[in-house]
Amino acid sequence: MDAKLKKLQDRISEAHLGGGEKRIEKQHTKKKLTARERIAYFLDEGSFEEMGILVTHRTTDFGMDKEIYFGDGVVTGYGTVNGRLVYVYAQDFTVFGGALSETHAEKICKVMDLAMKVGAPIIGLNDSGGARIQEGVKSLGGYADIFYRNVQASGVIPQLSAIMGPCAGGAVYSPAMTDFILMVEQTSYMFVTGPNVVKTVTNEEVSSEELGGAMTHASKSGVAHKTSANDAACLKDVKKLLGYLPQNNTEKPKMLPYEIGEELREQLKGVVPDNPNKPYDMHEVIDGIIDEDSFYEIHKEFAENIIVGFARLGGRSIGIIANQPMFLAGVLDSNSSSKAARFTRFCDAFNIPLLVLVDVPGFLPGTDQEWNGIIMHGAKLLYALSEATVPRITVITRKAYGGAYDVMNSKHIGADFNYAWPTAEIAVMGAKGASKIIFRREIATAEDPGAKLKEKEAEYADKFANPYRAARRGFIDEVILPENTRRKLLKSFAMLENKQVDSLKKKHGNIPL
Ligand code: COA
Repeated sequence: MDAKLKKLQDRISEAHLGGGEKRIEKQHTKKKLTARERIAYFLDEGSFEEMGILVTHRTTDFGMDKEIYFGDGVVTGYGTVNGRLVYVYAQDFTVFGGALSETHAEKICKVMDLAMKVGAPIIGLNDSGGARIQEGVKSLGGYADIFYRNVQASGVIPQLSAIMGPCAGGAVYSPAMTDFILMVEQTSYMFVTGPNVVKTVTNEEVSSEELGGAMTHASKSGVAHKTSANDAACLKDVKKLLGYLPQNNTEKPKMLPYEIGEELREQLKGVVPDNPNKPYDMHEVIDGIIDEDSFYEIHKEFAENIIVGFARLGGRSIGIIANQPMFLAGVLDSNSSSKAARFTRFCDAFNIPLLVLVDVPGFLPGTDQEWNGIIMHGAKLLYALSEATVPRITVITRKAYGGAYDVMNSKHIGADFNYAWPTAEIAVMGAKGASKIIFRREIATAEDPGAKLKEKEAEYADKFANPYRAARRGFIDEVILPENTRRKLLKSFAMLENKQVDSLKKKHGNIPL
């Protein structure tokens, strides 16, 4: 009996060593934690229950029958984060560089299937040299089995990916189909083809970091939603993100206890400058509205002319989309539209109410934008907001011009409450541009065209550079004082708590992609 128990113990101990001490040391030298260390840091202490620790690969080619590691390069199972059930898999770089084999994929699929059945988030900690080269197509099949499940799980349970090492080739497409990608700075990279292939095909010289490092994907491609300084910081960021999310699409995010007090926020009074062309930081507006220090920004370095992120408002988890006048005057362009559209769809899928803060002078003009499909990308945001059935509230702080007024959660596309500050300007365009078009002849034939333009500009501004025409028509429900905004939003989101909308029956819509 003792011998039998020992056999099990030995196997478990062997599994815990992964690819062995030397390779663990190498992992640490690279400032990376091992798969097991990551799981231990991520989950509540003692909560991890491992599955498939004794699984091994089935390959015999290339001497692989002599290289057997228990667990086969991925640690899988379940546990809790702040008391809530989550499923997790962590690729073990010390075993064949975390490369994905048929059995490695089967283990991941098993936890994904359970996560979907039970309705709890799945978190993938990626650190892998890609397809297990010795296995060939079996490994590719394994990837596709995971991809398929990523799609089945999409919109059902939150799927989060942390990239904590290499993630290259076909491997990128599993994280790419999850809801959020967090990357560790300096030690992680993602690309479809690496620097060597790039050099051969396009003759470009580029390092791994430059081609697909964390900052590249956070700022240039938008593939990464957040970057973190090291493994521990990344795992903390994933935990924090989970706090804003429900377990699955049939639940609402957990409310934190909150006692409503006086709720006036005087600091919001002076945020919008008198001069309509002067920028201001929309983060100040966000901070003045939400619960203290509760903003979790997504895509911070990408398309900075729009801000998106989660926050708490009176303990309620909400999603915020806000034009940022500090960058490109807060204009909508292709990247900012896609960024906000994707965020909208996540919030809608997971019952997270949306707050949209508007200061938008319109869409960005230019051949670059037109040729790169601003029509299609702008349509994404329009479509995503129009189809969203979660509670949706808009606050216009300053400009809401042209088509961008419609797109930014206007009443017409189904917003529940549309507020405007007295500084709001809801018009087809700014007073100067408008006057130059509609009073063109009058200005050209005037004795002093400059003075005439100024006069006409003032006339147009007086009529349209305010929220009152829109309020008269009911497009704006209420013009509110900035300092009252938080109070109003606390009440209106609470009132909308049980909002229900039945959509027309269809297989799925056809969002412009
Ligand atoms: N299949 C099987 N084994 C792999 C592998 C793969 N795809 N990728 C890495 N390994 C193994 C290596 O042979 C090495 O084994 P060892 O510990 O027995 O020496 C171990 O994993 C670590 O790899 P190493 O190259 O030493 O690590 P590194 O940090 O210097 O480089 C990579 C990491 C990912 C850049 C490099 O391993 C690589 O280019 N791998 C191949 C990537 C690829 O082409 N994948 C297939 C297409 S998706």
